[in-house]
Amino acid sequence: MSSHAVSGERRVTIHDLAVMRARGERITMVTAYDANAAGILDERGIPVMLVGDSLGMVMLGHPTTLPVTLDDMIHHASAVVRARPRSLVVVDLPFGSFQQGPDQALASAVRVVKESGADAVKIEGGARVIESVRAIVAAGIPVMGHLGLTPQSVAQFGGFRVQGRDASTADRIVEDAVALGEAGAFATVLECIPASLAARVTEASPVPTIGIGAGDAVDGQVLVWHDLLGLGDGRSPRFVRAYADLRSVIGAAIDAFQDDVSSGAFPSAEESYDD
Ligand code: KIV
Repeated sequence: MSSHAVSGERRVTIHDLAVMRARGERITMVTAYDANAAGILDERGIPVMLVGDSLGMVMLGHPTTLPVTLDDMIHHASAVVRARPRSLVVVDLPFGSFQQGPDQALASAVRVVKESGADAVKIEGGARVIESVRAIVAAGIPVMGHLGLTPQSVAQFGGFRVQGRDASTADRIVEDAVALGEAGAFATVLECIPASLAARVTEASPVPTIGIGAGDAVDGQVLVWHDLLGLGDGRSPRFVRAYADLRSVIGAAIDAFQDDVSSGAFPSAEESYDD
């Protein structure tokens, strides 16, 4: 287990994250979409796992997160929850599951928690989702916010671009972060915004900020599983750091298996059963 992780055997709570922020301990969050990954992350003491709607791109092969359904999220979140004794599991509300307003958002959040057993939901957006955040929190479900480059709005942004470079957008992101915290969100993801803006947001936010492409003056960092492990096709944004090159490792293993099957070297007598 990492020396920086929340220690102990009990489940990590949203209050632990507030305590980590107060102590100046940085929060680590990693995406997980299946039981195998969740088991590894929990074993390593990662305090928060995000079942992100990025699963649409990295697991299901869609070009954006927009086609992901609530059923997709619940299916993957259930697998993650089954494999985590300790980590806090946060699940994205996908596009189309909350845009109609607080009633729809609450119904979707209730389904996620009831059917998958996850602890919390994440919702993209600022002012336009504040009433939904209030409704979900009032029902007892913890909510994580998400500001900056919110991928569900990629068409409106004209692509996956850094947000908040102009003064009015920057001011709006700061105001949205404060409003999310005041509405009861327990943390907010800041995606792809200038580091100086993320520092401003973190200073103003009443709750922890978790950055991705938002520099280091935030309360924590999140990476997508496939990016962190080098499982992608190599076309990563500049904020990604790959801590392994598993695509090459896996490719070499597949080549070796194929060679052994072709040559007859697999299976051996030891790998076969006697009569
Ligand atoms: O869907 C996702 O994986 C996310 C993270 C990139 C924050 O929202």
